[in-house]
Amino acid sequence: MMDDICAHITDVVANSVSAGAKKVFIFLEKSTIKNALHLKITDNGKGMDEETAKKVVDPFFSTKTGRKVGLGIPLLKGTAETCGGYFNLKSALGEGTEIDVFFTLDHPDLPPIGNLKDTILILTVSNPEVDFLFNIKNDVINFIFDTEEIKGLLDGVPINSPEVIKFLTNYLDEHLNFI
Ligand SMILES: Nc1ncnc2c1ncn2[C@@H]1O[C@H](COP(=O)(O)OP(=O)(O)OP(=O)(O)O)[C@@H](O)[C@H]1O
Ligand SMILES: [Mg+2]
Repeated sequence: MMDDICAHITDVVANSVSAGAKKVFIFLEKSTIKNALHLKITDNGKGMDEETAKKVVDPFFSTKTGRKVGLGIPLLKGTAETCGGYFNLKSALGEGTEIDVFFTLDHPDLPPIGNLKDTILILTVSNPEVDFLFNIKNDVINFIFDTEEIKGLLDGVPINSPEVIKFLTNYLDEHLNFI
């Protein structure tokens, strides 16, 4: 089992980036009312055919060279199922992939969410060519972090330049304290 939900997010997004995605949508909702943690990650990468999409939930499948075992997806599926939730993967070749995961929020085995601020920051600045749309919410607050919009406002200054990183760090510190 991975340490926290952020490690799973990092892993799934790494798959999206490897698949050539230019847009990745990350939705995370923590709802006490629904007693659920819901994670959905959608990308516009190269996608998988039906057979591959079925196989990826198997820990002995990976297309990484020199690797026989791909663990990211099976681990996430395992965590969801252990925590009274479910895992669903939809993919279409040439179109993209969507991973939809539910966890029961009060399940004793649910890993902590982890450091979401750092995760968002690191994914954003280490993949400057990818546009990320993060939608993070609980029962009260709905937070949106749209790197395409941010890049538009930056007027050509790279999103991974030191002053922008500093600004984004402060921005996330200020706005992401509810989860
Ligand atoms: N978003 C995606 N788009 C296209 N293919 C994907 C996507 N996610 C996973 N895959 C395919 O599924 C395989 C298994 O993914 P998984 O994350 O389980 O393992 P891995 O990335 O190969 O290795 P690990 O995550 O353990 O470093 C990948 O090698 C890739 O071929
Ligand atoms: Mg992976």
